[in-house]
Amino acid sequence: MQSNITLTMIKPDAVKNNYIGAILQKITSAGFKIKALKFTQLTTDDAERFYAIHKGKPFFEDLVSFMTSGPIVAAVLEKENAVKDFRNLIGSTNPEDADEGTIRKLYAESLSRNSVHGSDSDENALIESRFHFSEREIYNY
Ligand code: RTP
Ligand code: MG
Repeated sequence: MQSNITLTMIKPDAVKNNYIGAILQKITSAGFKIKALKFTQLTTDDAERFYAIHKGKPFFEDLVSFMTSGPIVAAVLEKENAVKDFRNLIGSTNPEDADEGTIRKLYAESLSRNSVHGSDSDENALIESRFHFSEREIYNY
């Protein structure tokens, strides 16, 4: 299994706040290579499937409604230790707890509107990349 990729989404809050460019700049400056990129909007079914692991949790419905509230940017990123390094780059789930200089500290509005998603394991990185992109939309270069 490929262990050098992760899947990110720039969430609806950050898109609405015009942070797409700034966030992509942070990502590429940190050494991540963009292998796939898409501007799109999730349906309710999409968001429920993407975040299925959280089904039944108290925040699930709010999460789905937020993630479908506007367009997002999805991307497959490549780097050594991509999953771990990307989660370090984005910072804690709650931006109030995120380290200075992290994407969530800089650009997130709140715990529920926290600007970016990052895969939490190599296995999920692959599943989530396939969720958003077909084989031919992911480029090796
Ligand atoms: P993500 O999957 O979006 O990258 O976020 P994460 O791994 O840092 O956090 P996760 O536990 O997977 O939760 C997914 C999203 O649900 C919202 N959330 N709200 N207690 C709460 O109200 C709560 N906990 C989580 C967050 O927006 C989180 O990004
Ligand atoms: Mg997560």
